This record gives sequence, structure tokens and C-alpha cells, in this order.
Amino acid sequence: MLSRTLLLFILAVGLLLLLLVSALTTFGTPQPVVINGTAAPPLPTLNPAAVAEGERLYARYCASCHGANLEGAPDWKTPLSDGSLPPPPQDSSGHTWHHADSLLLTIIREGGAPTTNSKMPAFGEQLRDEEIEAILAFFKSRWGEEERKFQWWVTVVGGEQ
Ligand code: HEC
Repeated sequence: MLSRTLLLFILAVGLLLLLLVSALTTFGTPQPVVINGTAAPPLPTLNPAAVAEGERLYARYCASCHGANLEGAPDWKTPLSDGSLPPPPQDSSGHTWHHADSLLLTIIREGGAPTTNSKMPAFGEQLRDEEIEAILAFFKSRWGEEERKFQWWVTVVGGEQ
């Protein structure tokens, strides 16, 4: 009887140890980002130097319209009298994070679509691609974990959207 209890005890301790070891090895290991059953590699960490440069460039080129704190225009979803849309926020409350890096680069380089009477200027003449990428890194540093994961997934898996 005693040996059976002892055996169960040893088994239970063994199982606990196994759980502990597996929890410890999973913890801190970057996990793939899985959305709709499709996996993207783990979220890359942002380069702090790029984020800092992006913040500086944003203040200089973008803040006048998109807000000093990325908040966008009040009522940014309501079209103006000329049919154009006010500047949207660039933080998690906007929808920049819905789009892949490639599309964001194009919008910032070439400006908003003329067909929608967009007031988003083209910055291709003033900013190099690395500078635009730094601004995007700054935006990413301000997004929540879920928004960042979604945007990373769209960038890797979703293509142009
Ligand atoms: C003169 C005002 C103005 C400036 C300056 C400006 N934007 Fe915009 N931006 C807009 C407006 C207005 C829109 C919305 C355009 C539309 O939807 O037609 C917009 C849209 C965008 C979008 C698309 C957002 C989305 O969800 O589709 C991005 C990205 C963006 N701007 C980034 C930037 C960046 C980066 C800078 C600075 C380099 C910048 N903008 C400077 C007015 C501006």
C-alpha cells in the first residue's frame, strides 16, 4: 500500500517538474503570429534608433496634420465639405495598422489617391525610404500588441492591403 502511494507521489512530482520545465522553455521564446490559421514569424523587435529618428521626422513633417500625439483630427471619420477626409490618427485608434508596410510606404511616398480628393501630401521628394520606414517604426512603437501583431501579419502574409 505504502509503495503504491509513494509511486503515485513520485509520478505527480515528475509530472509537475515536466510542466515547469516546458513552461520555462516556452516563456521568453518568441511565438509565431497566427491569424486565420496562417502563421507569420514572431514579431520582430523595433530598432530604438529608428523609432527615435521616426519620432523626430514625424514632429517635423506629419504632426501638423496628424496631431502632436498621433491623435489625428477630431471627427476624422466625417468627410469635409469638399468630400476629402480629415487626417486620421496614427495610433491604435486609427487604421494605419490595418495596412501592410508596402502600402503604407506607397501612400507616404506618393500621397493619397487623387480620385478621393485626398489631402495626404506626397513625401517621396523630401524623405528617403529609410526615413519613411523610421516614421513607421515610430508608429509601431505606439501601437498596442494586438495592432502590431495584426499589421506584422498583414505585411508578411497579407500582401498589398
Ligand atoms: C497636410 C496634411 C497632412 C500632412 C502634413 C500629412 N498627412 Fe498623412 N494624411 C492626411 C490626410 C487628410 C489623410 C487622409 C487621406 C484620405 O484618406 O484620403 C492622410 C492619410 C495618411 C495615411 C493613411 C492612413 C490610413 O489609415 O489609410 C498615412 C499612413 C499617413 N497619412 C501618413 C503620414 C505621414 C507619415 C506623414 C508625414 C511624413 C503625413 N501623413 C503627413 C493629411 C496629412
